Amino acid sequence: MDHQNTAPPSLAIIGDVAVDLVLGPVDGWPAIGTETIMRRSELRAGGSGGNTALAMRHLGAPCRLLSQVGADTFGGWLAGEFSGVDAQLGVAQAATTVSTGVIHTCGERTFFTTKGHLEEQSWAQIRPLVGAAPAPGSIALLTGAFLLPKMREAYGQVIGDLADLGYQIAIDTGWPPEGWTPAIRAATLGWLSRCDHILLNEIEVTGLAEADDLDTALRRLTPLLRPEAVLVAKTGAKGAVAHYGGARFAAAAPQVEVFDTIGAGDSFNAGYLAARLSGLGIQDALAGGCRAASAIINHFPRRAIAPGQLADLVAPAHAGRN
Ligand SMILES: Nc1ncnc2c1ncn2[C@@H]1O[C@H](COP(=O)(O)OP(=O)(O)OP(=O)(O)O)[C@@H](O)[C@H]1O
Ligand SMILES: [Mg+2]
Repeated sequence: MDHQNTAPPSLAIIGDVAVDLVLGPVDGWPAIGTETIMRRSELRAGGSGGNTALAMRHLGAPCRLLSQVGADTFGGWLAGEFSGVDAQLGVAQAATTVSTGVIHTCGERTFFTTKGHLEEQSWAQIRPLVGAAPAPGSIALLTGAFLLPKMREAYGQVIGDLADLGYQIAIDTGWPPEGWTPAIRAATLGWLSRCDHILLNEIEVTGLAEADDLDTALRRLTPLLRPEAVLVAKTGAKGAVAHYGGARFAAAAPQVEVFDTIGAGDSFNAGYLAARLSGLGIQDALAGGCRAASAIINHFPRRAIAPGQLADLVAPAHAGRN
């Protein structure tokens, strides 16, 4: 692989960006035909890939975002939200995917999401934008597999092409809307067996492994992975757990006040990957991921977080303090 000598390893995010309208809180569920007034709302760039790119910006860590937006007003607005990120966002011939997230007083949320442009995004359109990894150790993060049907059809090729371009591969599949059917499990296990950083949440890991508890699931999945792969399970307010090389790592989530946890997992991914790219080990990166997620979900509105405002959270100075 022809790497430029001076560039540091960096992150390329290949996945989903969409528009999120987050509003709430609402107590109970309204009757059809009524109107409910809510105290807070925020229109923000979202999608798993979009959330991770913005979290990298909050952390002052460079990244590339390779994705698409829809051919409408929201698409133009969305593209403008990634200033400061090296974003290459093509235009898909469809309306931009929009997700309305209703926050409930209990902390749960309900999403209404349109299919929109994510259905059109394909590897053929993204592949020419990627280019060789800028340095050894660079990571490509794949997000939103189950929301990107055309990309997902080509995932075997996506992973092969990215490896050929010199990237380590990180993946956050998200939850499959159709559930962990045998076909979805087989396809997912095939992808994961070729990845280096697997960033799932607890119920995704247990669902994929058909296990009743997290540790059983992690033990069941690890032998199916590359020996050098890190398997991370995000465990919500508890923090995160990882398995690597027969060892178990865990980090606790700093407890913070939260209006909505939308994008918590994606923010964790940014903290974890930024830490790994800066040379930190698994324990420090898990803790960095938890610190990043807590700090970001503690902010409302999220758009008020300035670029680099959270840079200290994954700085090497934190290493060894976990
Ligand atoms: N209530 C919370 N308080 C503090 N930290 C939290 C809370 N919820 C989530 N986190 C942090 O965010 C990380 C990711 O959360 P979670 O395990 O819910 O992932 P996820 O389900 O993939 O999230 P997402 O819904 O964004 O996909 C956790 O590892 C933790 O560090
Ligand atoms: Mg997630």
